[in-house]
Amino acid sequence: MRFNQTPRIRYFSLLLFLAFCFILLVTCRHKADLTLAPPPPAPTPNPPGYSCSPDTIYFQNAVLPLIVSNCAKSGCHDQATGQHGLVLDSYSTIIHNVSPFNPQGSRLYTALFNGEEDAMPPGSPFSANQKSIIYYWIAQGALNNKCTEAGCDSSNVTFDSVIKPILQTWCVGCHSGSSPSNGLSLTTYAQIVASVNSGRLMGAIRQDVGYHAMPPGSKLSDCSIAIFQKWINLGEPQ
Ligand code: HEC
Repeated sequence: MRFNQTPRIRYFSLLLFLAFCFILLVTCRHKADLTLAPPPPAPTPNPPGYSCSPDTIYFQNAVLPLIVSNCAKSGCHDQATGQHGLVLDSYSTIIHNVSPFNPQGSRLYTALFNGEEDAMPPGSPFSANQKSIIYYWIAQGALNNKCTEAGCDSSNVTFDSVIKPILQTWCVGCHSGSSPSNGLSLTTYAQIVASVNSGRLMGAIRQDVGYHAMPPGSKLSDCSIAIFQKWINLGEPQ
């Protein structure tokens, strides 16, 4: 008996070792190791119209809209779906996936990188600037902070300088791609002008009765809404 057991145990250990290597290989392929990566470049911080500290990334102004419009969509991480038990629609749900001051140790940040295929959000990975926004918000302590705009700078309102960045932060995550929400794409000047001229866009962002309130579950600041109105009054300059 004793003679037969030793090779069997050896064989079994070898199998265990091979299984271990296999698991290691699979996990390594799917998780990019970010601990050795240098910090990303500082992002262009908060959307225009905000006059707070340019070096601070504000959760309510820069991070929440990015996550709501890219992650809290229907079928993904909204309240109704909660893919993988994960809801990402407010500070209290988002902070569960964050280790303050430690971006590389935060699921919210590492999930943006996992391999090429399963990086979040699927099919439309964050731009370098968007990744930097998440990185520096976490590195600065992941606070629930907000820039309350001491002054609303509505001078020089053009499409490229002000209107497009606001829409990119708050709206484009849902209103773009091959099947945009409500069949409404808001990526080009022509599409946005058409939506504004129909009256639906202003009704939606002012959250008037009879319109679907946009963005869902949140509201643009009074300053941003005033900037939109000013842009319309100026004849929608590009
Ligand atoms: C999380 C996804 C999401 C985000 C972010 C979002 N939308 Fe929407 N939008 C929708 C959906 C879904 C609808 C269809 C109506 C509904 O189900 O509420 C819609 C409808 C609309 C409509 C038609 C509303 C109406 O009553 O006719 C407009 C205009 C609109 N969105 C503009 C915007 C603008 C502008 C923003 C950014 C400030 C924005 N949306 C952000 C998902 C989104």
